[in-house]
Amino acid sequence: MIFELSEEHLMIQKAARDFANDVLKPGVIERDDKQKFPAEEIKKLGELGFLGMMVDPKYGGGGMDCISYVLAMEEISKVDASASVVMSVNNSLVCWGIETFGTEEQKQKYLIPLAKGEIIGAFCLSEPEAGSDATSQRTTAVDMGDHYLLNGTKNWITNGSTASVYLVIAQTDAAKKHKGINAFIVEKGMPGFQVGKKEDKLGIRGSDTHSLMFTDVKVPKANRIGEDGFGFKFAMKTLTGGRIGIASQALGIASGAYELALAYSKERKAFGKTISQHQAIQFKLADMATEIEAARLLCLKAAWLKDHHMDYGTASAMAKVFASRVAMEVTVEAVQVHGGYGFVKEYHVERLMRDAKITQIYEGTTEVQKIVISRAVLA
Ligand code: CAA
Repeated sequence: MIFELSEEHLMIQKAARDFANDVLKPGVIERDDKQKFPAEEIKKLGELGFLGMMVDPKYGGGGMDCISYVLAMEEISKVDASASVVMSVNNSLVCWGIETFGTEEQKQKYLIPLAKGEIIGAFCLSEPEAGSDATSQRTTAVDMGDHYLLNGTKNWITNGSTASVYLVIAQTDAAKKHKGINAFIVEKGMPGFQVGKKEDKLGIRGSDTHSLMFTDVKVPKANRIGEDGFGFKFAMKTLTGGRIGIASQALGIASGAYELALAYSKERKAFGKTISQHQAIQFKLADMATEIEAARLLCLKAAWLKDHHMDYGTASAMAKVFASRVAMEVTVEAVQVHGGYGFVKEYHVERLMRDAKITQIYEGTTEVQKIVISRAVLA
């Protein structure tokens, strides 16, 4: 067992760290405050190859492994989780989903611009009444011969108004339950497709979260992903990898808050010495560092399993459930270490604390991860 990162991994980690500090950090407080999508920053992230990191270079991607992806996600998330969720959805849900299960025609048309970061994608599973219970899809896709007619509403869709390509999950044959569900590639310009309300969120406020409405949208049959009825499995398999991305995002939020708390503790003086010299703070820092290291190892293990084509379903759920809990605990402690300064926007940790919460909710709640893990341990 080797715990050392390769030269290439270290280079990718440094490139992501530099990008986060040089490009994302300067405007991150303002974007959070004004709920402003990081459009220019995401464009640059795409130009550097971070939006299609794991895609085969023949489809415009970086051809990197999942370990590299975890490292980059951690660095970007330390500074701006609103940018890193765009990166996560585009890489591990949209690009991976099309590359793994799409036709050659779909890859040529959609994957190449997505992997190059020329456009971004969205993944549309959640509905007003189908979040964790993903088989209860109300959006319908009626088979009309050469096309499907799509009707319904999707909720809480990341990249909702900024995406150009949407992977939409819908029910074609309700009698077949999850085996009657399909997945489609929907383009923004298709008649009948409307972007709805923008959500005013607690955290990741720079990211663009919307409801979407589909009214008699004609989706060509060529845009269905996989065989008829493959949609639920497509969603599950895609989300399994997506959870490594969100676990890494949670890890980055935690380590970003920890680094800020560590630096602050060495500057701030109280009772005649820096607060880092007080055991009350030392023990907090020790706990934070230990929890973050454990979360990092779980994320890297899940990525390693994926890179080695081994089963990573349980590992990705464990990484997500643990890293997202660590993100909550560490960010709360980081605010505490900062005292009053931690409660104001300028010091970044209050934003990281707000951002942490979503990692326990999206791409499968903590409770969903525990369903996945308990089924595996009881099998
Ligand atoms: N990989 C492959 N197949 C899988 C699978 C997986 N990870 N999980 C389930 N399946 C298959 C099962 O084998 C089964 O197939 P068969 O009928 O052939 O045996 C089928 O799918 C049905 O499985 P279950 O009976 O286990 O389904 P369930 O209804 O009990 O659901 C669940 C299980 C884990 C709770 C699942 O519904 C789930 O993951 N829910 C959460 C969905 C989710 O993550 N939503 C988040 C929205 S996306 C998002 O947030 C994106 C964003 O914008 C950031």
